[in-house]
Amino acid sequence: MKVLHTIADLRAALPGPQACAFVPTMGNLHDGHLALVRQAKGHGLPVVASIFVNRLQFAPHEDFDRYPRTLQRDAELLQGAGCDFVFAPDEREMYPQPQTFKVHPDPALADILEGHFRPGFFVGVATVVMKLFTIVQPKVAVFGKKDYQQLMVIRRMVDQFALPIVIDGGETRRSDQGLALSSRNGYLSAAELSEALALSQTLKQLAAGYRANPGALASLEAEASRQLAARGWAPDYLTVRRRHDLQPPTAADAKAPLVVLGAAKLGTTRLIDNLEF
Ligand code: PAF
Repeated sequence: MKVLHTIADLRAALPGPQACAFVPTMGNLHDGHLALVRQAKGHGLPVVASIFVNRLQFAPHEDFDRYPRTLQRDAELLQGAGCDFVFAPDEREMYPQPQTFKVHPDPALADILEGHFRPGFFVGVATVVMKLFTIVQPKVAVFGKKDYQQLMVIRRMVDQFALPIVIDGGETRRSDQGLALSSRNGYLSAAELSEALALSQTLKQLAAGYRANPGALASLEAEASRQLAARGWAPDYLTVRRRHDLQPPTAADAKAPLVVLGAAKLGTTRLIDNLEF
């Protein structure tokens, strides 16, 4: 496995355009990322993983500075998962000048849910992913369903810009108890780690409640938030949405494939999760 730090070195090392599978990450890798690398491997192409903590997608009060940078450990894990190339640029390489040209995703998709609570987040994500796509020029890119709205934004971006890239969604990896693996779980205390299970459990109950009584969606969502708040969480949203556009289901969607999504703060750590149902 080769670790490259500059765009020129990466381009010189890669077999050419549309000849690799790509897994973008911000590092601090866990089993969920490695599963995405193995999924990328399944496409039968050399696999490139990027590691770059993208300042553009963090608000000033968020955890950009304390986001763990663990390149050596990440590289060992990637090698073990069969990755062929790691692209680990520094900030000067990715943003040699302030990145004033940006990708602004459709507000109907990107200014709701995460985008509502983290204004500008998906502009930062779409901009860096577009830039990584033009650098790596992959045939396939694998994104985890853990960041469900991110996956939908990237799919829409690739469609609308006619990028010749297949976007492959990877299932969320969970602990045996059901906690979605996330780099931010490392911020949780032992007590918070066991309490964190309540998020996916509440989402499951909300999905079941909706299937039993779709007409009561608003009160079921409010009740789910109340339950988490009563346990000491600060919920941002717990909501049932259509999968393709993340809009609330209408009566006609009651039996359609849907997704239940949630975001809530436990102590100082903001967790997100979702379940397709
Ligand atoms: O999901 C992530 O880790 C990031 O949002 C991504 C896609 C690597 C862009 O910085």
